[in-house]
Amino acid sequence: QLKIAVIGAGSTYTPELINGFIVRRAELQAAAFYLMDIDREKLTIVAGLVQRMLAASNDGARVVLTASLDEAIADADYVIAQIRVGKLDARIRDEKLPLQFGLLGQETTGAGGMMKALRTIPAIMDIAARMKRLAPRAWLINFSNPSGLVAEAVLNTIGGKLIGLCNGPINMVREVQALLPEGTAHFDYDFVGLNHLCWITAVYADGRDVLQERLRSGLNVKGLQNIPQMKYDAALLQATGGIPISYLNYYYFRDEQVKKCQQAVKTRGEICQEIEAELLRKYQSPDLKECPPELAKRGGALYSEAAVSIINAIENDKNEVHVVDVRNQGAYAFMDPDDVVEVKCRINKDGATPVKLEGFDNPFIIGLMRTVKAYEKLAARAAVHGDYQAALAALLVHPLIGDYFKAKGVLDAMLEANREFLPQF
Ligand code: G6P
Ligand code: MN
Ligand code: MN
Repeated sequence: QLKIAVIGAGSTYTPELINGFIVRRAELQAAAFYLMDIDREKLTIVAGLVQRMLAASNDGARVVLTASLDEAIADADYVIAQIRVGKLDARIRDEKLPLQFGLLGQETTGAGGMMKALRTIPAIMDIAARMKRLAPRAWLINFSNPSGLVAEAVLNTIGGKLIGLCNGPINMVREVQALLPEGTAHFDYDFVGLNHLCWITAVYADGRDVLQERLRSGLNVKGLQNIPQMKYDAALLQATGGIPISYLNYYYFRDEQVKKCQQAVKTRGEICQEIEAELLRKYQSPDLKECPPELAKRGGALYSEAAVSIINAIENDKNEVHVVDVRNQGAYAFMDPDDVVEVKCRINKDGATPVKLEGFDNPFIIGLMRTVKAYEKLAARAAVHGDYQAALAALLVHPLIGDYFKAKGVLDAMLEANREFLPQF
């Protein structure tokens, strides 16, 4: 009799999430979905579609709409958090302000990403704290971005049963499966990184690594919907040693990406506002009983696959391997045990246990991960304590910023623009 709470359920992604439960009903039965959102209008529209989807598939799960965090959380088994503090308007500011300083305008990477962390971390800490009181056995599955940095802040302060999640890794794994020679019976891979800073560094076909030979010929990687696609030539792939998540395009092609943002007529957030309006219009049609294809225009492909398969693995003690964001605990020898990393984990009734990555010694990847982790530790400190010095240092150590006048300028402008969402400052 599972109670599932979805925080930020007014998101147009929610129907896809619920679909993940519908298709797994034989193994995983939710008795009730508590859909919580502060935006009653969006919640009502999205929940309407959810109810029609459940009815159409003869799923008897109860749906409760609420604006109360406590009502959603109390005695829940799983809490899925997918909040966007300040909504897409705040995202658009995160995308635009850094451009004024010649910096990348992106919602999770660089200065915009830190701003998003400063808004989001207090809200997730609040959810995690309420869970300790009202649902101490529940798992918090957090998608709210920047999800690695949110996990870093929560797990290393108040702790608790949080698993950070991103749809990126599962998409990467699906893509490299296309590289396997025909007739491969057994597939495995090496994965390494932080959230939105990760690579696949080996692809095993029946035990033999076939990736390095593929890197020698260059690759067209489809990547995520929301990020400009790039061709990776052989020299780049061999120098870096792995297939990157699309977010690495911001690092590998920094100048070009900043230029693209500056020349773009609309930011990604503005495009998402348009997609969202269209989706909400469709969701209101009484004839619609499934996720419409337009949802695939968003970057969140396979997000419900990632979330619900992890809940299924915990609930049914499956001991499956999934990539999630938790504390390293020795899995990556070159990172501290308490650093939150994105890592292959065994998922079972005890949660997520990182699997050790053996024999990894790529100085490029290690260097970038450690530097970005320094940024994350400082940004987490800024978010938790309202520490201005830490925020400034975070931007100074970030490989995409690293200039005092730019860092100070963008930080002050962003703090000013976000004042109403920053209780800690
Ligand atoms: C990717 C990331 C998500 C992010 C999404 C943005 O899939 O992994 O963390 O939220 O893209 O997509 P959007 O359609 O909002 O630009
Ligand atoms: Mn992500
Ligand atoms: Mn560390």
